[in-house]
Amino acid sequence: MNGARGVLLGAARRYALAFKEAESRGDYEDAVVNLKRAVEALEEYLRLYPDDFMAPRVRQILEGYKRKLRELEGREALAQASDDEEYHVEVNGKALKKSGVKEPPVFVLKEKPKVTFNDIAGLEEAKQAIREAIIYPIRRPDLFPLGWPRGILLFGPPGTGKTMLAAAVANEVDGEFLYVDAASIMSKWLGEGEKNVRKLFEYARERAREGTPVIIFIDEIDALLGVHSNEVGGEVRVRNQFLKEMDGIQDKDSNLHVYVIGATNKPWKLDEPFIRRFQKRIYVPLPDRAARRKLLELLTSKIKLAPDVDLDKLADMLEGYSGSDIRDIVQGAYMRTIREYFESGGKGEPRPVSMKDFIEILKVRKPSVDKGMLKLYEEWYERFKAL
Ligand SMILES: Nc1ncnc2c1ncn2[C@@H]1O[C@H](COP(=O)(O)OP(=O)(O)O)[C@@H](O)[C@H]1O
Ligand SMILES: [Mg+2]
Repeated sequence: MNGARGVLLGAARRYALAFKEAESRGDYEDAVVNLKRAVEALEEYLRLYPDDFMAPRVRQILEGYKRKLRELEGREALAQASDDEEYHVEVNGKALKKSGVKEPPVFVLKEKPKVTFNDIAGLEEAKQAIREAIIYPIRRPDLFPLGWPRGILLFGPPGTGKTMLAAAVANEVDGEFLYVDAASIMSKWLGEGEKNVRKLFEYARERAREGTPVIIFIDEIDALLGVHSNEVGGEVRVRNQFLKEMDGIQDKDSNLHVYVIGATNKPWKLDEPFIRRFQKRIYVPLPDRAARRKLLELLTSKIKLAPDVDLDKLADMLEGYSGSDIRDIVQGAYMRTIREYFESGGKGEPRPVSMKDFIEILKVRKPSVDKGMLKLYEEWYERFKAL
């Protein structure tokens, strides 16, 4: 369970309660202030977790709060305590609880993902690079007398499996995997970015000292360099703190197994000192033909296919599409049969997916990454290879 999620929902609930309390006292000014904060917290939650299972309910609640806010601001004195918008969200109590047990900072998702290297189609070079940079050194540090990299940067177009790769690493080593979304480090709701970075590394070092290898995965790491920051100058401090921590695990604490994997779709947003801390840079490209074929196989393994479906031919047709595009296309083709099934009364079983379903989807679904974009990644790689 993600702690940041719990913090935001918890904050929203507290503000909502304070709002009610103020409203029942007749202190409309205070009521408005609290309701505004509740709205902000929920908006931040929806920004960070748009696909969370609670998101649809939170959207409803948010609408209610906003309506109420307009009403209050409009006619302060007339507003009445209303009971129609109860806040039902259960807060993740565990993440907030202060116990003797060490807990990672709240913005960390400490859940072992189930994905393995076998679930990832292609990307053989990237997998090998990760084995050499993380998995082997963790297993036999004595075989690496010259040291090994602590910072690994995965970069490439969106939807190519970067997040998946990092998640799979966690399953290939017996260690602790800390998933951090860079945007949540920068969120003003979750404390000062600079302190968050410090807490994250402190926790990682402490765990590593006890003998557990720790892999910190920072997704969309370019966000650490500023775009999402709400505080003037804050992003510079976050960046500097991050560089300092990276140096720490490289030098002073280099006997500890703390690894940082960063992923980004926008490597050109990173500056040189930042890039330098990631000695290993791994390009995660669009899937080649073999990878597309494998991915189609993985994705269709649980779907009934008509005999005319030719995966080889489909793999050819999908040139230029990313892994997540391909997943969407398979899903779209399958949905055609499901839609048809329900619209025709839902009797018996849906028909198998045919080649025509794929072709129809492809007519409207274009690759999400264009060729010009690909060139940018390659140029960037060339430029920073030797750094
Ligand atoms: N190489 C791949 N093998 C299997 N699935 C993939 C691959 N690349 C992308 N996908 C699919 O696309 C989704 C998005 O991939 P993700 O790892 O989040 O991409 P990125 O982090 O590079 O933007 C995955 O959850 C998976 O369903
Ligand atoms: Mg990703």
